[in-house]
Amino acid sequence: MLLLRRAVFPVVRTKCGRCFCSSPSLQMDRKGLVLGVFEKKGEKGNLQLTEAAAGFDRKVSGKLSELLKISGPGLKKGKSRIFYGIHEEFPCVAVVGLDDATAGVCGAENWDTAKENIRQAVSAGCRVLQDLEVTHVEVDGCGDAQAAAEGALLGLFQYDQLKSKKKPKVTVQPHGSADSTAWAKGVLYAEGQNLARLLMEAPANHITPTAFANTIQEKLAQHGDRVKVQKRSQAWIEEQGMGAFLSVSKGSEEPPVFLELHYNGSPDSKQAPLLLVGKGITFDSGGISLKPSASMDMMRADMGGAATVCASVVTAATLKLPINIIGLAPLCENMPSGKATKPGDVVTAKNGKTIQVDNTDAEGRLILADALCYAHTFNPRAVVNVATLTGAMDVALGSAATGVFTNSDWLWGELHKASVVTGDRVWRMPLFQHYTKQVTDSQLADLNNIGKYSRSGGACTAAAFLKEFVTSPHWAHLDIAGVMSNKDEIPYLKKGMSGRPTRTLVEFAAALAHQG
Ligand code: BES
Ligand code: ZN
Ligand code: ZN
Repeated sequence: MLLLRRAVFPVVRTKCGRCFCSSPSLQMDRKGLVLGVFEKKGEKGNLQLTEAAAGFDRKVSGKLSELLKISGPGLKKGKSRIFYGIHEEFPCVAVVGLDDATAGVCGAENWDTAKENIRQAVSAGCRVLQDLEVTHVEVDGCGDAQAAAEGALLGLFQYDQLKSKKKPKVTVQPHGSADSTAWAKGVLYAEGQNLARLLMEAPANHITPTAFANTIQEKLAQHGDRVKVQKRSQAWIEEQGMGAFLSVSKGSEEPPVFLELHYNGSPDSKQAPLLLVGKGITFDSGGISLKPSASMDMMRADMGGAATVCASVVTAATLKLPINIIGLAPLCENMPSGKATKPGDVVTAKNGKTIQVDNTDAEGRLILADALCYAHTFNPRAVVNVATLTGAMDVALGSAATGVFTNSDWLWGELHKASVVTGDRVWRMPLFQHYTKQVTDSQLADLNNIGKYSRSGGACTAAAFLKEFVTSPHWAHLDIAGVMSNKDEIPYLKKGMSGRPTRTLVEFAAALAHQG
């Protein structure tokens, strides 16, 4: 009779790795397999194996389907069941639930349900195997190898760089005849998001503005002539007349950096560049308008805009997308000190507009104001800025979607299309004059850095403020404060900083690249 057995790993005889003695020791070769099953629509409990699972089932003379029957009815979406010892090569096989085989793009959810189900199921399978100390996993492409690779790599990501005791690393590869090109693309998309997660999760004493810029420079070093990295110094920022940016950095001992990335993926074309601009506050204490201490540690991720933008440029370069992209990241800390900007101070931005800084915690819009002015000097085809800008954005949409404020229906359409594919969603927000009036009514200056009615519509007044620094007809501001971190809402991301919406930015750039 077939039994659900405990793991039986093939035993490999090797030299003792602990004390370098010559006596042989026992070491485990830990290999696992993730396979998918659909639940037949309207027939709860009636499972349908994917192509790869059916192939595997034939190899083990029907043992897999037999065990699935014995182990109970159905297999819900994202749930897994482990079978041990049914195949010599794979001591652990995780079968994961993919739900409805006929699922596709869902108008209500604004995403592709089939892709989301695959990401969720594959990540669950990989994690179960990781917990069983499996170190190499082969993954069923489940009919969409890109989504499967994304689920695997996003699900397995963990930030344990600073822990003495680390979980063993798990390597993954596509199983059987899965589409290897799509898999490779999924790997790069997920690695892009994981780079943003790494930068966001890292503590602020490790990822200073200088360390951030150096990390990105290192990542881009391998791309040769196609990529240029400039780390602009405080002196350069002063020369540019970026008084709003400098007013934020001046309370900190860490020097500001203005990071400028040029990716020339389409060097011979006359195509104007896509400008991506990311808020890079490596720590936001609030400045003199100090934040409460509860959860202040989360503000190490206030460079999430810069992280996702720079990770997208790195990914575009790795994918060799035929497009020209310029990535800009004003990087600094927002700290209180004797040199810090005080509420009521007036500063002058690069375009000459004066700003009354009534709240030093509304610093993101100040650094972006100058970065947006600079972005326009490149005559861009479109400008997209990304920022963990307002707590109000989190109140409005939570972590369901990034809020998009845009003056361009075309740009909205492109961003929305990209997000349906990636499942990292966007939702359109308003840019009414109603909000502009609230930031242009300042006692001392042209603009005030907070809305007149302070808390009401906070995400919208922040967007209206940024609009004052925009002349491009195709501009979008992405407020990512709500999607900055994950508890358990996105099942294929662990608890921690999310790196959202890197994959959506990459997909958007890829679509633009192919439009020429
Ligand atoms: N970085 C914060 C916004 C934020 C909050 C991001 C929570 C991620 C999670 C931003 O600099 C800020 O403090 N904004 C203020 C603006 C207010 C003073 C007008 C806010 O949202 O409270
Ligand atoms: Zn702030
Ligand atoms: Zn901030």
